[in-house]
Amino acid sequence: MSEPRKIIIDTDPGQDDAVAILLALASPELEVLGITAVAGNVPLALTEKNARKICELAGRTDVPVFAGAVRPLTRRLVTAEHVHGRTGLDGPDLPEPAMKLQDKYAVDFIVETLMGEPDGAVTLCVLGPLTNIALAMIREPAIVSRIREIVLMGGGYFEQGNVTPSAEFNIYVDPQAAEVVFKSGVPIVMMPLDVTHKALTTNARVAAIRDLGTPVGLATAQLLDFFDRYDEQKYGTDGGPLHDPCVIAYLLKPELFSGRHCNVEIETSSELTMGATVVDWWGVTDRPKNALVMRDIDADGFFTLLTERLARL
Ligand code: BDR
Ligand code: CA
Repeated sequence: MSEPRKIIIDTDPGQDDAVAILLALASPELEVLGITAVAGNVPLALTEKNARKICELAGRTDVPVFAGAVRPLTRRLVTAEHVHGRTGLDGPDLPEPAMKLQDKYAVDFIVETLMGEPDGAVTLCVLGPLTNIALAMIREPAIVSRIREIVLMGGGYFEQGNVTPSAEFNIYVDPQAAEVVFKSGVPIVMMPLDVTHKALTTNARVAAIRDLGTPVGLATAQLLDFFDRYDEQKYGTDGGPLHDPCVIAYLLKPELFSGRHCNVEIETSSELTMGATVVDWWGVTDRPKNALVMRDIDADGFFTLLTERLARL
């Protein structure tokens, strides 16, 4: 096997973030250099703690966890306890983590890692609002050309929004940060709602994970059972969208996904459509193509990969 791909996971766990972290930690093709927490689904004090809980569940207390931004660049923090529960990780009864939070500020860790690792070696996997990444780019613009790729869950075009009629949660929470990142020139792979709404945690798929019969399989099934309940009611589907693990699955098996290179701009001024991702899918402008925007997923292949990898933990 070739050298594992070096990644930093920037995240706001969140049940689906937790499953994404487990998928990454279970996969030898990836070297998780660190996990950086950001405020999003719940406030930072909970997201950084949840990240540590998940590392402990995976038996990977060697992975450093850092706390980053407590709030978006300019807007007040919007959270999603109605989806994720009071802790952000409601569902399983996970113990309080014993592993320590790193002293270093997450934004410093991102900058120092990108400057210290070889040029083009590090991929950023972004599962929450883009605040930490934008702050790192603002603090040290030299990192921008050193990032191999940013693979992010965010936005929506055909499916529009999930937190407002036009905006997806991660972009809506910090549209100014998203704008910094989408204008940076870094190669971006975007996993929008158009993809994740096709990755449904059906009863049969969750049962296969529960049937692994391991502590990780059981905890993951409990996470998904809790996470499902809101979206099942909202969308009337068997299961809910499993958003964030699509980012990690793309690194492992890009052939599961298809999309096209487009220009993506972020709405940052209209309150009505704040955080909308304006995707030039049909190429009607000459604006530069700044992202590979995914639209389709082989959902069965995705859940097979996920289940097979979780079995390794
Ligand atoms: C995104 O928002 C969060 O609630 C999820 O963790 C995911 O990252 C989906 O819109
Ligand atoms: Ca998330």
